[in-house]
Amino acid sequence: MLSWEQSPSVAMMRQERAWVEVNLSAIAHNVRQLRSLLSTQTALMAVVKADAYGHGAVTVAQAVLQAGSTWLGVATIPEGIELREAGIQAPILVLGANHTPDQIRAIAHWKLQPTLCTPRQALIFAEVLATLPQHSPLPVHLKLDTGMSRLGTSWQEAAAFVQLVQRLPNLTIASVYSHLATAEDPNQSIAKQQQQRFETAVVQIKACGIHPPCLHLANSGGTLSDPAFHYDLVRVGLAIYGLYPAAHLKTTLALKPALQVKARVTQVKTISAGTGVSYGHRFVAERELQIAVVAIGYADGIPRNLSNQMEALVRGQRVPQIGAVTMDQIMLDVSTVPDLQEGEVVTLLGQDGNQSIAADDWATTLGTISWEILCGFKHRLPRIAIGQALPDSVNR
Ligand SMILES: Cc1ncc(COP(=O)(O)O)c(C=O)c1O
Repeated sequence: MLSWEQSPSVAMMRQERAWVEVNLSAIAHNVRQLRSLLSTQTALMAVVKADAYGHGAVTVAQAVLQAGSTWLGVATIPEGIELREAGIQAPILVLGANHTPDQIRAIAHWKLQPTLCTPRQALIFAEVLATLPQHSPLPVHLKLDTGMSRLGTSWQEAAAFVQLVQRLPNLTIASVYSHLATAEDPNQSIAKQQQQRFETAVVQIKACGIHPPCLHLANSGGTLSDPAFHYDLVRVGLAIYGLYPAAHLKTTLALKPALQVKARVTQVKTISAGTGVSYGHRFVAERELQIAVVAIGYADGIPRNLSNQMEALVRGQRVPQIGAVTMDQIMLDVSTVPDLQEGEVVTLLGQDGNQSIAADDWATTLGTISWEILCGFKHRLPRIAIGQALPDSVNR
C-alpha cells in the first residue's frame, strides 16, 4: 500500500490526459496592446466572467492587473467572491442584475460594485443597505438600455433614474453605462445610434446637475473599432484573450491568442479498409489507416458537432479527426505521421510548429462565435498557466 504522501494526486495527473494551456505572457501582451489604443483618460476593465472565458479567473485577473488593467468585470457575485478570496483588491464590477437581500449583503460584504438596472432595484438596495452596520456608501453603476434590449433602464428615462439614485442614502453613483449590440459589425450605424442615445441621456443627466464620474460603453468590438466609444473606461473581454470580435478588426492591433487545448495519444493502431470508426460508424476507412486514440471528448468541451469536421496538430502536421467525437475520446487519422507513440501530445486548438487551429475555425464550422467556443471547455480540463504577466527583468 502506498502512504498518502506517495499516492499519485490529482495535481500530479494534470498533464496526463488533456488540459487547457493558458499563456499569461500573451494575456499581458494583449492588455498592453489594448492600453496602447486608449488615451490616458480611459481605464481598462478586463472582463473575467465565466472563469475568464474559460482561461481561469484568478490567474487571469492577477495577470491583467499586473499588466495594467485597473478594473475587473464579472457576471455574478460568486465570480466576484472567488477573486476576493484569492486576495484580489481591484475594483470589481458585477455586470449582471441582483435584487435579493442576500445578494445585496454579499455585494457589500465583499466590496463588489453592483450594476443597478431599474429604479425598483435601486430602492431595494437602499432598503437592505440601511439594515447593515454603518458603512461607507456603496458605489453603484447605473445601466442604460440604448438598443441592446437586455439589462438597463431605457435611455429616455435615464435622467429620472439617475436622480432617484442620487437621492438614495447609502448609494453613490460610480458610473453610468450602456452596452453595444453590434459593435463588431463593419456597418456601425446601429452602434452609432446607441452612442447618440447614450450621449443624449448623459446631456439630460447633466442638465439635472448630476455629473457621473465615469461613463462607459465599449466592449472589445467598440474598443477596437472607434476611439469615440472609449469614454472613461472600456470593458474588454474577448480581445484580452487574444481573439478578434470580427475579421475586419484584425488590422487594429496584434493580439496573441492565450488558450491552447492539448491532449495525449493513448493508443495507436492500424485499421484495414472497410473498418468503421466510433459510434454509428460515421467514418469508414477507404484504405488501411494508422489511427490514434486521443484522450479528450465532448465531456471536456470538444463539440460533438465537430465529428469528422475538425483537424488536430500532431508533430506540427495537420491530421483529420475521424468518426463521432465520444464523451472522453476522439480518433485521428495519423497515417501521415510515422511511428507515432502513446503519450505524445496532440494540439486541438492552438499552435504547433507553423500550423495553428483557432477558436474562430471551430466557430465557423459550427455556425457559432468564438466566445462560445472559449467558454465551452469543461472543468475536467485542468488549466495550466505558462509564461508570466511581467517580463523577466521586471520580476527580478
Ligand atoms: C456588459 C458587458 N460588457 C462587456 C463585455 C465584454 O464583451 P467582449 O467579450 O465582446 O469584449 C460583456 C460580455 O459579454 C458584457 O456583457
